[in-house]
Amino acid sequence: MKQQLEAIKAAADEALRAADSNQLIESVRVRFLGKKGELTAILKQMGSLSPEERPLIGQLANQIRADIEREIAERTAEISAAESSRKLAAEKLDVTMPGTKHPLGKKHPLEIVLDEVKEIFLGMGFEVATGPEVEYDYYNFEALNIPKNHPARDTQDTFYITPNILLRTQTSPVQVRVMEKQKPPIRIISPGRVYRSDAVDATHSPVFHQIEGLVVDKGVTMGDLKGTLAEFAKRLYGEDAVVRFRPHHFPFTEPSAEMDTMCFACGGKGCRLCKGEGWIEILGCGMVHPKVLSNCGIDPEEYSGFAFGLGLERIVMRRFGIDDLRLFYENDQRFLNQF
Ligand code: DAH
Repeated sequence: MKQQLEAIKAAADEALRAADSNQLIESVRVRFLGKKGELTAILKQMGSLSPEERPLIGQLANQIRADIEREIAERTAEISAAESSRKLAAEKLDVTMPGTKHPLGKKHPLEIVLDEVKEIFLGMGFEVATGPEVEYDYYNFEALNIPKNHPARDTQDTFYITPNILLRTQTSPVQVRVMEKQKPPIRIISPGRVYRSDAVDATHSPVFHQIEGLVVDKGVTMGDLKGTLAEFAKRLYGEDAVVRFRPHHFPFTEPSAEMDTMCFACGGKGCRLCKGEGWIEILGCGMVHPKVLSNCGIDPEEYSGFAFGLGLERIVMRRFGIDDLRLFYENDQRFLNQF
């Protein structure tokens, strides 16, 4: 029995040496010390020993059990230490390495100026309204006093979805949508994308942006229009911005005008920038046509209003000295990073 015990000890030692994970160690423990383990089996046979032998063998068995337990504990500690230093090495952090760059996006130049324009009008008590880009012919043309066959339709040729539905050619349909829903006083601007079937060149794009404005209330006059828009120009271009109004025609306003700003490059003398004019047109405007008011259920005898529409690209080009509108849409970082 003594030999058996020593053989068990030798086998346990070898198994432990080979065990390189906590799981394997546990199986060694079960194999030798468990309820059905090899050492336990020997101890169960103690009854067959002579009374002289029993205490000797018993002592040896206990000694071996204690040894195996100690070795298990040691081996477990060894493995955990090896495991954690392996982990530490794997997760080693070099705090002197340069960090990962997360490039932040930034505002598009069109958005920068649009935000300024909004800020100016919000400061004057306007609200921002929106409308759909896919629009009914009715809102884009009919309700704005541009019936079928009206020549104004030719200059705003667009993309038709069906004979009655199209990509809006102007932000003016938002005027109608707002007036249908909201009774005066109305003071809104409505920025957004518009579409025309134009060929792309330095000053034309089939998709561009307009900002519409509409004021309707009792007793609104052309004086309000001029004062509001001149003030807008000052806030956008600086205190010394000079504007002029030129008579024009739009079917949905009467009278209608275009507003020019004096060329800031030549001070009105005429240069390359203003194409020798001395003035640069920045928006169309006018007193809302009585027919448009009544189309929207607003009594033109009681209320009057003014409206305006400006091309965003044009004022941004002026603002930053950009000479080709295609740059806005090409997503070229070399261009965009300059703003
Ligand atoms: N919708 C016009 C255009 O695209 C611009 C415009 C002119 C809008 C006069 C207006 C306005 O509201 O009153 O050419």
